[in-house]
Amino acid sequence: MPAKPWSQESWRQYPAQQQPTWPDPADLDRVLKILAGFPPLVFAGEARSLTAKLSDVAAGRAFLLQAGDCAESFDALSADSIRDKLRVILQMAVVLTYSAGVPVVKVGRIAGQFAKPRSSPTEVVQDEALPSFRGHMVNDITFSASARVADANRLLTAYHASASTLNLLRSFTKGGFADLGRVHAWNQEFVASSPAGQRYEELAGGIEAALRFMEACGIASGEHVALHTVDFFTSHEALILPYEEALTRVDSLTGEPYDCSAHMLWVGERTRQLDGAHVEFLRGVRNPLGCKLGPTATAAEVLELCEALNPERVPGRLTLISRMGAERIADVLPGLVAAVRDAGHPVVWACDPMHGNTFTSSTTGHKTRHLEDICAEIDGFFAVHWAESTWPGGIHVELTGDDVTECLGGSEDLSPDDLPMRYETMCDPRLNGRQSLDLAFRVAEKLRV
Ligand code: PEP
Ligand code: CO
Repeated sequence: MPAKPWSQESWRQYPAQQQPTWPDPADLDRVLKILAGFPPLVFAGEARSLTAKLSDVAAGRAFLLQAGDCAESFDALSADSIRDKLRVILQMAVVLTYSAGVPVVKVGRIAGQFAKPRSSPTEVVQDEALPSFRGHMVNDITFSASARVADANRLLTAYHASASTLNLLRSFTKGGFADLGRVHAWNQEFVASSPAGQRYEELAGGIEAALRFMEACGIASGEHVALHTVDFFTSHEALILPYEEALTRVDSLTGEPYDCSAHMLWVGERTRQLDGAHVEFLRGVRNPLGCKLGPTATAAEVLELCEALNPERVPGRLTLISRMGAERIADVLPGLVAAVRDAGHPVVWACDPMHGNTFTSSTTGHKTRHLEDICAEIDGFFAVHWAESTWPGGIHVELTGDDVTECLGGSEDLSPDDLPMRYETMCDPRLNGRQSLDLAFRVAEKLRV
């Protein structure tokens, strides 16, 4: 059967969920033309290199750590906040690599994660209904009529914000900051004082001793690029399709289209309709893709998504990100995993233990998540994969390097009363640096068995 024709605008013939109402279509067109003339943010070759790494994950030879903000903010683009997010991810990766002995593929929810799907198109406060906040790429979080109007100029700001974030990430990961000889320096003060932070110090001491041992044996670490630099990739939810279309470029080497807004793009739980615009757009770009799967996903639907998004069955092309909730995972995931395995689709299975475990604190009214629920979902994820003889390929988590109080539990046992102290997220509650490290040690233990 010949494949359906695809072009970077073919999604426009399909229903697109979660799109803002742009008040001035002519202004949107003007902005899209500008974006289409800008340089790509990432290169096709980098996206291919990520697919190759993810094919190792699909084959059970590596582990995927996809982590970062729920929603990045235009107001938090400081070098410090980008560095601190990166260092928590590097710490987690080193814990997983050192403790479990598996290579870790590092992908940030960063440098482009500026758009959010919402459960309701409007938000009501004291009888006033306004359009919901949809991420800084679309509108502003302030609850006022003018702030909530979708502004196409924000797409340009999103591009520039992504470019400057990516520029700094490239410097940090290739310019010395990510050198394994600096593992101690990645431990921020507020993290180092926690039990997980102290455990990390011991591990970092072990790595330093190993590096010294290698030097003493005559294996000069200076000659090994892998000890001094890190391959770090970017990803975000491909939600605002006009933006993604405008950043799609045909690769001059292969003649194939790539969405050059990030290395990896994913389709969210609310936009993964088989006959919808998001699946239509993503099936045609050659980047590695993610697809969120919530508890209502059926095996038949997942197989159709695999066929739509990866008909050629390229290993590493498709990552299925389950986000079932700790209570549902044992019931729902086995059938999906078995169906995909039996159909022979070479996918990466990753666990997003965040989005199925969100609740509103009855004490303070904040949206939150408990680290124990997050760990319980990860436990369930590993149990399903061990039982089905498939590889629990990775985790997908929302975190920040900042010392926030948004999720409960962890080694300092944050309680609902602590939530108002530093609750800073623009959308979902994120793990702070300590909780992220706690989680990494827990996952490393699971991987070791
Ligand atoms: C998210 O990853 O921030 C998100 C909205 O997830 P989901 O699509 O799984 O609800
Ligand atoms: Co989120």
